[in-house]
Amino acid sequence: MSVYVQLLDAAIRDLEARKNNGERFVAVAPETLGALASPVLRARRAEPAMTLPKAIVPATPVSPPAAASPRVPLFPAVQPPPPTLTSIARGDRSAEFAELRARVLACAKCPHLVTTRKSVVFGVGDPNAQLMFVGEAPGVDEDRQGEPFVGAAGQLLTKIITTMGQTRQTVYIANVLKCRPDTAPGERGNRKPRPDEMATCLPYLLEQIQLIQPRVIVALGGTAVEGLFGIAEARITRQRGNWMDFRGTPVMPTFHPSYVLRAEDGPDKGRATKRQVWEDMLQVMERLALPISDKQRGFFK
Ligand code: URA
Repeated sequence: MSVYVQLLDAAIRDLEARKNNGERFVAVAPETLGALASPVLRARRAEPAMTLPKAIVPATPVSPPAAASPRVPLFPAVQPPPPTLTSIARGDRSAEFAELRARVLACAKCPHLVTTRKSVVFGVGDPNAQLMFVGEAPGVDEDRQGEPFVGAAGQLLTKIITTMGQTRQTVYIANVLKCRPDTAPGERGNRKPRPDEMATCLPYLLEQIQLIQPRVIVALGGTAVEGLFGIAEARITRQRGNWMDFRGTPVMPTFHPSYVLRAEDGPDKGRATKRQVWEDMLQVMERLALPISDKQRGFFK
């Protein structure tokens, strides 16, 4: 990883820690503020996805604001300065991933979510993973910790992943929406992300998928299917277990872990639902040619 990317990561971690500690402002030198106000022409990857542009078009200089305030809000509504993509080696996924992460963490496309979020939940795992799990949106625990699937549903997902012989570090886990959907003050629980919110955030997930290039994606629940495919109403009970195609990548839709947890209150203690999810995961393992032991195959039989 280049020194630039390490510094970028350290700066992001510092800003996140400050924000989580309740700091709402940081002191910024006027010249930095001027640079931040400059329009950015971001380098776009040409097809194929991993190809970097040969040259970066220089940004058009503009005058810095006349009276720059010495303090600006954390995660302001301006784009962050562009990384020097020329320093990123062709095909270096970790560097491109860090650049994408920096952009997503500074996102302010949904002002209503910017004001209520504690963190932007980018994703976790191996940027070279063959298997990617996609959920709908961070809940209260994920928002607090800045990591997807760390609450009760996340613990079940982790169990599913380890039962498949993988870990959270060998796969990649992300959500369609990177910020926790806001709820009314004092309201408990999580809200389902709206189609417009997911559509706004989807380009980030697309970039993650383009960089990771997973061989298989698991869509966790109907809302994730709706967000990923941009469809109005998924029928997860019918769609689960049946391969879908997302721009050339096979997608296995399955039940969301929260649904599985709710099914535990049923007469069979969720056994039938768990068996269905496990059957879906066995299909995924077969597709990835992962070893499957008799014990793994025999679960729920
Ligand atoms: N549910 C999701 O869809 N994503 C999370 O990160 C947590 C719960």
